[in-house]
Amino acid sequence: MSEAKQDTIKMVDIYIMGKKYNVPETLTIMDAMEYAGYQLKRGVGCRAGFCGACATVYRQAGDFELKVGLACQTKGEEGMYLAQIPFFPARKAIYDLEEIKPSVAHFARMYPEVFRCLGCNSCTKVCPQDIDVMQYVAYLQRGDFARAADLSFDCLMCGLCVSRCPVNIVHYNSALAGRRLYSRYLAPPDSFLAERARAIKEGEMDAEIDELVNADKEKLQELYNNREIEK
Ligand code: FES
Repeated sequence: MSEAKQDTIKMVDIYIMGKKYNVPETLTIMDAMEYAGYQLKRGVGCRAGFCGACATVYRQAGDFELKVGLACQTKGEEGMYLAQIPFFPARKAIYDLEEIKPSVAHFARMYPEVFRCLGCNSCTKVCPQDIDVMQYVAYLQRGDFARAADLSFDCLMCGLCVSRCPVNIVHYNSALAGRRLYSRYLAPPDSFLAERARAIKEGEMDAEIDELVNADKEKLQELYNNREIEK
């Protein structure tokens, strides 16, 4: 950044892994880290609030509250002490979708900790997507996989809910299992999807797929910008 431009932009002090950096206040946490010289290889993905790779916890100097956010979506602020959570060690049940059933009994064998929920609502409060996490946990407990799938649909799998749960529920993996059970066994069959799958299997889409695979960046951009969007 040129000196003249830097003069017009307010600078703020943020702390990355305990070290102080002076960065423009207009930057997101992610951009501020790169401005400070960090090369992000983990904890970054889409840069657009979709992939959940950039979960961050922070505390403002003098504030007791631990806050959370996505580094690519949250603006850096004066006095922020930051720590990245690119990965949170959480249990993931191993199952064969063809061998389990959409029942509470099957679900309880995969994710028993879901039934230990204390109702503290920490998971909902911490979710950067504002998902009512505790409510979908309640739906999973009663085997209402349709509602659990619907309510958890916007989950980015960032792991922040798991990081705050006092009884070690793995919310996002549990919800993923719920969505899989719903779509495999309960959702009404989708004739459009079935037809598309058949066409791909029988090679009817090969020419179109080859065109995409061989297209250069410009062509891909043009196709993307002029794509047909279903209503
Ligand atoms: S980098 Fe993908 S959500 Fe932030």
